[in-house]
Amino acid sequence: MNETASVAPAAAPAKNPKDRVLIFDTTLRDGEQCPGATMTFEEKLQVAEVLDEMGVDIIEAGFPIASDGDFEAVSEIAKLCKTSVVCGLARASFGDIDRAADAIRHAKRGRIHTFIGTSPLHRQYQLNLTEEQVFERVVASVTRARNATDDVEWSAMDATRTEHDYLCRVVEAAIKAGATTINVPDTVGYATPEEYYDLIKMLLNRVPGMDRIVISTHCHDDLGLAVANSLAGVRAGARQIECTINGLGERAGNAALEEVVMAIKTRGDIMPFHTAVKSPMLLQASKLVSAVTNFPVQYNKAIVGRNAFAHESGIHQDGVMKHSETYEIMTPESVGVAKNSLVMGKHSGRAAFRAKLKDLGYEPGENAFEDAFTRFKALADRKKHVYDEDIEALVDEGLAHLGSRMTVKELYVVAGTRGPQTATLTMEIDGVLKTVEATGNGPVDATFNAIRQLVPHDAVLELYQVHAVTEGTDAQAEVSVRLAEKGRVVTGRGADTDTLVSSARAYVAALDKLMVKRQKTAHAQPAV
Ligand code: KIV
Ligand code: ZN
Repeated sequence: MNETASVAPAAAPAKNPKDRVLIFDTTLRDGEQCPGATMTFEEKLQVAEVLDEMGVDIIEAGFPIASDGDFEAVSEIAKLCKTSVVCGLARASFGDIDRAADAIRHAKRGRIHTFIGTSPLHRQYQLNLTEEQVFERVVASVTRARNATDDVEWSAMDATRTEHDYLCRVVEAAIKAGATTINVPDTVGYATPEEYYDLIKMLLNRVPGMDRIVISTHCHDDLGLAVANSLAGVRAGARQIECTINGLGERAGNAALEEVVMAIKTRGDIMPFHTAVKSPMLLQASKLVSAVTNFPVQYNKAIVGRNAFAHESGIHQDGVMKHSETYEIMTPESVGVAKNSLVMGKHSGRAAFRAKLKDLGYEPGENAFEDAFTRFKALADRKKHVYDEDIEALVDEGLAHLGSRMTVKELYVVAGTRGPQTATLTMEIDGVLKTVEATGNGPVDATFNAIRQLVPHDAVLELYQVHAVTEGTDAQAEVSVRLAEKGRVVTGRGADTDTLVSSARAYVAALDKLMVKRQKTAHAQPAV
């Protein structure tokens, strides 16, 4: 067997501090910009807590000028993070920078990340500014940020489509004005790994002072090259990678954190770098982000997908049983997938349930745990076999409803050929129980009409999807719902053995997020 490809090298080589790659997570900022991926305040804190514990170096917690909600989230995360640097994003304006400075005020270690578009397209069409005007804003914004904090990151937005001479000029100016990290975004996911490598090398060769600051990558995945480009950047000399859990982010998303971390860890033979991320927490982080954003992780997603360590074909199963390295380049445990498979049923107690959740990558807080346990018991009473997938659906749904203002309390539906299909629904809204009866064109329509009567709104139902969590007619139905209202897009998820109950819960979860988003955008600034 080729020794260099071994999963566990006999003796790990000493780590050179020069090869340490900083992991900058922007799930809560770039990730949250993804349509429909809104997180509530509580959800953001939960995600930040996991990222901090997982060893992420920098957490970009939000864009403080965007809304009061964003400001509060960044400021609370700044207070709670024990080791991660907490970063707030700001455009090249004093208002943005001062607001970001205020938001990170309580951080043990805080950073301001300021940016401006530098490419001809951005200068001309988005900003309507000349080269000189953009240059002046770079100097002014970095100087302002540097007066507020010692840790300043500056980004040349759309760097990969910026003229090299001009890019060198603005980067040099940003360094002179005090930037300690220079980010080179591939904002539109256009670059290839060779190009991106050459771009970082070009900056290192041409810009005075470039070797004294940290160079950062920020690659979008429009061509599916975000991770490859980020790694190419590191090989060229970058030492910070900006990424998101599950690759969440604008359009096709950002480089996936779990992929860059495991690529670096697994291929130390050709990439002698290291990060401080505790990789066994990757699955937990992935599940949490998927649950709170209602963005499912595709089954075959690298590292954290349900099938990432599943071996279906006989030949593969035979090989893995004989020697796991035949078909596994990293161990499931190294990313948080547990081998141990406890069988769960109605006699399982709290301790077994907690252990099972841990195996599955969840470590909920006490309230979330109790809620999940109660629902697990109820499910186990109704369903003969409770599979891992059932528990995952149940916990994900619970996480998605954390801190919600409204819940479905009772649903009674009359369905069948005779009609009219009728739904009698009781919901708790801000602590008050309300009941209505509504009819509709089918039981789902009747249920959604009842919700609309209780919570009047104009949102359009863009997606209604039902998925059986496991096999069998007693399987839980997992329902996803997407609502859109005036450009605001939200998603909700519900799981239950009764499809109509899951549908109601999914719709209400989405609606709840829409209310939060309405408040959030009431005072919002233009998006990045
Ligand atoms: O993609 C991008 O260029 C950004 C910047 C704000 C860094 O997200
Ligand atoms: Zn971005």
